[in-house]
Amino acid sequence: MAYDTLFTPIEMGNQTFKNRVFMAPLTRLRAIEPGDIPTILAAEYYAQRAGAGLIITEATQVSLQAKGYAGAPGIHDEEQVTAWKVITDAVHAKDGKIVVQLWHTGLVSHESVQPEGKAPISASKINVGVRTSLRDDNGNPIRVEGTTPRAASLDEINQVIADFAQATKYAKQAGFDGVEIHGAHGYLLHQFWAEHTNKRDDNYGGSRENRARLMLQVIDACVDAWDKDHVGIRVSPLGSFNNVDVGYNEEEAIWLVEQINERGLMYLHLSEPDWAGGTPYSTEFRQKLRQAFHNSIIAAGGYTPEKAQTMVEAGYIDAVAFGRDYIANPDLAQRIKKGVALNEQHPETFYGGGIKGYTDYPFMSE
Ligand SMILES: Cc1cc2nc3c(=O)[nH]c(=O)nc-3n(C[C@H](O)[C@H](O)[C@H](O)COP(=O)(O)O)c2cc1C
Repeated sequence: MAYDTLFTPIEMGNQTFKNRVFMAPLTRLRAIEPGDIPTILAAEYYAQRAGAGLIITEATQVSLQAKGYAGAPGIHDEEQVTAWKVITDAVHAKDGKIVVQLWHTGLVSHESVQPEGKAPISASKINVGVRTSLRDDNGNPIRVEGTTPRAASLDEINQVIADFAQATKYAKQAGFDGVEIHGAHGYLLHQFWAEHTNKRDDNYGGSRENRARLMLQVIDACVDAWDKDHVGIRVSPLGSFNNVDVGYNEEEAIWLVEQINERGLMYLHLSEPDWAGGTPYSTEFRQKLRQAFHNSIIAAGGYTPEKAQTMVEAGYIDAVAFGRDYIANPDLAQRIKKGVALNEQHPETFYGGGIKGYTDYPFMSE
């Protein structure tokens, strides 16, 4: 059997996961509007991928205000919860496990998808020139410039924290095996962390303690809403994502991970910069990450099975998450195990559309 290490079970929180080949969170922009409701096709798509040790869903809005992309699903009302329950049941029926990635997009948004057509919130009123995705009259995705954000008020910050907590309760109700807080890629929590986008002079800006406050308060609220064994977080602590640049301050990144570690979460998910053309992590940084975070570490970003096996055996990570390969290969884990070649990817169907490029990638036996 190839890559034996990747096929040993892993304990995270109080659960056992059958292998270490995970499915990374992947926005596919196929949800129903209005309502931001995941489709029945999404149940088929995720169930097809239940061979993964863990499926992390596409990023999912915690509120109406958290929305930045037309076609991304939400988890902030009962109708959405009912739709997600169909999905978690389908994955569990195939012996899979699934957590939902919870996001607030902050400035990566557009007034046309915001409540009352307002400007989206962020830490400060700073336009980083980001683009997002809306739908044209035929429902096809179109790229547009984001609306210049406004600085969130303290009431709005408190509401964001409450929305993450409520979404966590909904996730439990919908049958998920946990939640992953999206603290990465230049979305709201990252916008507060990055000096580049945070020019506040209150308790949420300035020092690193202040810039980390929102992320840590969101973690604490989600843990209160469920428990630490069912809450993970994704971070991208080095490099630039969505034009939000935190530079290469390894010391600050490790400090942030230490604060997260104190919460005793189910896992830390590192989105590494390689896949987006960023500088790869140094071995020294990996060693420091391992010392700073005591529970499971998942890593993603331009991984191959070889690299994953090497990193797990070196003790730097515990599991790998594959993104694009999981889009194109519903049975990716089984293919890796058997050494079967992967399907060709079709990036033009990554975002938006229907069955094509979603549920029609062939399994290896076909
Ligand atoms: C189509 C697409 C959608 C993505 N959506 C998300 C997302 O919703 N949340 C997230 O944290 N990362 C998202 N990512 C990043 C992936 O999770 C992953 O980190 C990235 O694809 C690198 O891994 P890979 O080299 O295995 O593809 C997305 C990437 C792609 C290609």
